[in-house]
Amino acid sequence: MDIVICKNAETAEKLAAAIIADALAAKPNLTLGLATGATMENLYHKLADMKLDFSLCKTFNLDEYVGLPAEDRNSYRYYMNYHFFDRINIDKRNTHLENGVAEDLEAECARYEEMMEEAGGVDLQLLGIGLSGHIGFNEPFSDWSSRTRAVNLTPVTMAQNGPYFDEAKGEKMPNRALTMGVGTVLDAKKLLMLVTGERKADIISKALEGPMTSMVSGSAIQLHPDCVVILDEAAAAKLTMKDYCYSAFANDPKWDAYRDIVK
Ligand code: PGA
Repeated sequence: MDIVICKNAETAEKLAAAIIADALAAKPNLTLGLATGATMENLYHKLADMKLDFSLCKTFNLDEYVGLPAEDRNSYRYYMNYHFFDRINIDKRNTHLENGVAEDLEAECARYEEMMEEAGGVDLQLLGIGLSGHIGFNEPFSDWSSRTRAVNLTPVTMAQNGPYFDEAKGEKMPNRALTMGVGTVLDAKKLLMLVTGERKADIISKALEGPMTSMVSGSAIQLHPDCVVILDEAAAAKLTMKDYCYSAFANDPKWDAYRDIVK
């Protein structure tokens, strides 16, 4: 695992964008695994500003709320269209999220896995981490061979995302979601985790430096052979191996191309 600590969120987003741009340049028909959440908004805007060619690209998102149709402003389909897909030249038919309003959720999840397989699997999976330690919506006790499925959201996640729902307008956060499983995530050829901000310092130190445990689904990335974690200094504040991460970045020639971004 490579952990890169950037001075602030802006730099971390720029580095993540540069890594995605390079992956796309190397493989124009890249299959991207995508994530939502506040952390990713500026990353998507930056990628859109780079005017990259996404015309051959396919995408699969990690998760979607159960019960929210695409046009609901709180759905992740709406988020993705607004923050990313409507700003780039991707063919929307190549963008995939689980259908949270499918009649048969189990069949929907099986269909989603099949589509990913038909696409040849995910080349590069973008990940955030939630305060519950989740990747996707894989809450504590998600088993590491889990596949795309319906899950219940923990109180921690309800509290984290609840404020996005405007109760005065009758919006209510669903307490269930469809999510790629931990096993699905680990099948991606490469993982790119982006975590910024002080409030993530505790959970990211557990995920990266703590024991691998299903109590912190994010710790499963320790198993992946090609995983880059990009943090800002605020999120990295509680890492005991911080100095080692800085020096590993400074000394490893594979990061030469990115040094101008991470100054
Ligand atoms: P956030 O969400 O970017 O809004 O903090 C990340 C997550 O819950 O995975």
